[in-house]
Order: sequence, then C-alpha cells, then structure tokens
Amino acid sequence: MHASEHRIATSVLIIGTGGSGLRAAIELAERGVDVLAVGKRPKADAHTSLAAGGINAALATMDPEDTWQQHAADTLKESYLLANPETVRIVAQGAARGIEDLERYGMPFAREQDGRISQRFFGAHTYRRTAYAGDYTGLEIQRTLINRATQLGVPILDSVYITRLLVRDNAVFGAYGFDLTDGSRYVIHADAVILAAGGHTRIWRRTSSRRDENTGDSFRLAVLAGCRIRDPELVQFHPSGLISPENAAGTLVSEAARGEGGILRNHLGERFMSRYDPERMELSTRDRVSLAAYTEIKEGRGTPDGGVWLDVSHLPRQTIMTRLPRVYQTLLELQMLDITQQPIEIAPTAHYSMGGVWVRAEDHGTDVEGLWAIGEAASGLHGANRLGGNSLIELLVFGRIVGQAAAEYSAGLDAQRRSAEALGAARAEVDELLAADGPENVRALQRAVRDIMTEHAGVVRDESGLRKGLAELSAVEDRMAEIGVHPDIAGFQDLAHAFDLKSAVLAARATIETALERRETRGCHNRSDYPELDPSLQVNLVWSGPGQVERQAIPPVPDEIAGLMREVSTVGKLVE
Ligand code: FUM
Repeated sequence: MHASEHRIATSVLIIGTGGSGLRAAIELAERGVDVLAVGKRPKADAHTSLAAGGINAALATMDPEDTWQQHAADTLKESYLLANPETVRIVAQGAARGIEDLERYGMPFAREQDGRISQRFFGAHTYRRTAYAGDYTGLEIQRTLINRATQLGVPILDSVYITRLLVRDNAVFGAYGFDLTDGSRYVIHADAVILAAGGHTRIWRRTSSRRDENTGDSFRLAVLAGCRIRDPELVQFHPSGLISPENAAGTLVSEAARGEGGILRNHLGERFMSRYDPERMELSTRDRVSLAAYTEIKEGRGTPDGGVWLDVSHLPRQTIMTRLPRVYQTLLELQMLDITQQPIEIAPTAHYSMGGVWVRAEDHGTDVEGLWAIGEAASGLHGANRLGGNSLIELLVFGRIVGQAAAEYSAGLDAQRRSAEALGAARAEVDELLAADGPENVRALQRAVRDIMTEHAGVVRDESGLRKGLAELSAVEDRMAEIGVHPDIAGFQDLAHAFDLKSAVLAARATIETALERRETRGCHNRSDYPELDPSLQVNLVWSGPGQVERQAIPPVPDEIAGLMREVSTVGKLVE
C-alpha cells in the first residue's frame, strides 16, 4: 500500500461532478443510498455551467401543438437515423418530468407574465420547446443541482483525479486516483460506478471546452475497463465559436443568438444561409450551419482572420440584455466588443461528443457489470447531429434512471470480488508516471494532438488526411514514452495533464479510425471523398481498441414516431 493512500468505501461512486453526475447523486441520496461524487474540476465550474441557451421538453407552453412524440421525431430525424429510437423515446417522454424535477429543486426558469415557463426556438425543432434562464441555463442548472445535493448531504470531492476503474471478472469494484493538490492517493471501493466524466472535444484546437476539460477521460477509463465506444467520429462542430483572442479561441456564442433573430453574413455582406438552407436560414441544423460557415471561409468569402459574421445588433437592446446577457458580457470581456452595435466574428468550434461509451438504451448500463455511463460520456441519443438543448435534458432524464439502476444493483449485490492485481496495476501506473523524467513535454504533446485533429479530422475529412492523422498520432504515441512529469509546490496538475494526454491520444485514435470507416457524408461527418449519404452505413460504428471497429445495427423507428418525421434532406450538405 502507498504511504498516503485514502481508503474509502461507498455504495455508488460517481466520477464527474457536472450535471449528469449530480443528478444521479441526487437520485441516489433521495433513495437513501450511500453515494460519493468525485471530479477533477471545482464543482461550481463543471463544464455543464458553460451550457448556454436551453433545455428541451415538449411542455407546449408556447406552442400547444407540441408533443413528446414530435420531439422524438425531430431528434431522430436530425440524428440522420443514427440515434437509438428507444433512448430517444425515453428522453423525449421523460423530459417534462426532468423539468419538473428542476423546478422542485428551485431552478429559476424564464417565465411568461402569466407564469408559464418560456420556451424559445432552437435550430431544427418543429416548435418552440427550449426552456431557458437567459443564456446561462447550464450555470443555473449546475447551481440548482449543487444546492439540492448539498441539502441532501451528498459528499463531493472535486479535486480527485480518477486514473483507473478497478475491475475483476468484468465487474467493477471501484476506482483509483490521486488528489490534485497534495498527490495523496485514493482507493475507492464501490458496489457500482457511474461514469459522468464528459466527452473529448478538447482534443481539437478550436473548442468550446476549456483547458483540461473534455479531454477524453471517459473514453480511456471505459475502454481500459472493458467497454466499447460508439461513434466517436460523430463530433458536433457548433457554428459559432469565437476566433479571438487566441487563448479563448472557440468560446461559444450561444445558438440563442440565432434563435433570437441573429443573422449570419460572409465578408461580402451576403446572408449566406440562403445558399444552404433557404427555408430555415440561420435556424437550420448545426451541422448545416457549421458546414456553410466552413465552406464560405474555405472558398474565400470569409473575413481576413478566417471567420464569418454573426450579427444581433439589429435586435432591441432589451432583448440582448435579457436573453443574451452572457454573449454580451463575454464579448465585452474578451474583445471589448459591444454586440448591440457590432457583429461578432465567429467560426465553427468543436462542441460536443455525440458518440461516447456504448450503453444499453434502457438504462445506460455498459459492457461492464456495475458500471453505467451518462451525459456526454455516453452515446445513443444524438446520432450524427444533436439538436441544441437535448444534452441538458438528457442529464436530467438519464441521471434519474441511472441513479435508480445503480441503487437497485447495489441493493441486489450479495458479494463482491476484488482484485489486488487490478489495484496494484493502478498504483504502478501512477508510480511510473511520477518517476518519468524524459525530455518530452506533456503540454507540447497535447498541442500536437490538437493540431492533428484540427488538420485531419475537422469539419470536413478525407481518407488521405485521416491516414496522415493516424501516422502523426502514432508518432505522438512514440514520443509519449519519453515524457517528463514534474509535480511542483503548486500541486499535481502535471500528473493530471499526463493522464489527460493518455486519454486524448486514445480518444483521437478511436475518432480517426471510425472516421475512416464511415465512408459517407452524414450529419456532422463530412467526407469530401464520399460526399453522399450511404444507406448501408445507417449503423453505429463501435470501437473496442486500436484497429477494432464493428458495425452495429440500429433498431427501427416505431411507426408512431416515423409518421411525424419529415424526410432527412441532404440539402446544404457537401456538394464538392
Ligand atoms: O448554443 C448553445 O446555447 C448550446 C446549446 C447546446 O449545445 O445544447
């Protein structure tokens, strides 16, 4: 045993203290189950707090015709038929309950004068069904969940970095990690584990994730435990990320800006969406708007700095101040730009991992017994194009379901077998990294991965670029044998960065290998060498390790929902 090793036992361990982890923790605590949540970021600053524009549920407060079935149909249609229909049904049908739960915990939703929850348009929804709190919706949700978890006395350790899941005979029995401040180790034994550690969009250079978050940790922890990853190539590029300043490149300008009437123009002043989706214009789907902006820039109609313009300056000042306060503040703080007067320069930014750990549709259980995955770590809801606002509702719906499933699993467990060997390997891995004193710099290698993904696996991909990306990634993997890890008086962040790098490299390989296999253009995945959608690829691509990609069939869409789906159109997709 290590000299300063904390040993903790709990019924359910949750890895990740964002919205999905906290919602699951609340469910467990409300059921009287012993739970512990751990994370690598301060809980008040979890990535959920960045989610901006809203959360979807067919509440029909603004458009009485809306139904959960139409929400399901819109979600499936815009997933380009890669979402799992059962996952979609569960989320759409359970969404109103998710909003009620938030109201019960005290969430301050924007309301109409008569008290109804307000709902706004988000791209490609048939009706207004996105509830919100200004453009700080995620932040308010995170605060609300933290308050409820605190009321329930949920213990949260938000400076613990988990390096390994502990598994024996394909059943999880806990996790291993270290404290980011003093480096002390943690052995956490648990009946069940819920993985809620986010996605992998920080492995691109321009991203709406901040440093050290969404570095692919869930992918690595899950795969080393024995799980598979579904559709990692399906990454949503949000159309509106800031271009400057360099150290904040990719920062999100919420879709709410377009939802409230924002207009997109190229550098020639043309309202370019008329070329790509004349009917829906700026309220087209994210994949189309991103590809449109990318194409304008690539074909020379972008700004000198490689962007396009998003203009809200024609909107009433009052609308901007009440409905887009974060966009207003962010632009003032980062660029001294007043959006009530001037347009914003934007370009596509890596925003959301629509693929993730393979989970069962009904309860988000994984390939490993006793292990669940939720939130951006999981997969199945979004397919090849996520509707804005669907990720926040997924946290609420599946947080509850997974909490319940883990509670039942824990209650039904007669005995648990642990493995000294698995624990020894986890310890040795940390020891080995701490002893590493090579010349390669971890931050530089992280940057190299981001460059590879940006150059070869961005909005538009092709075979030769992806192959080059794989070769360059192999070179980074070789260089990783020579890294130096040097924790200092400020803490053990350097060790965390080394693990982040391991995760990033695994996530990058999974993404490129599946992107190579998906020889078609579908949703967010644009292959310039395969510009058409290929019906035979209406399958999930499931990655289980280097070179191992399998196709998995997707269950059919029930007739009740299929009847509400408008045909998936390829208008606005690649025409090269
Ligand atoms: O643009 C946005 O406000 C992002 C919302 C989302 O990704 O769901």
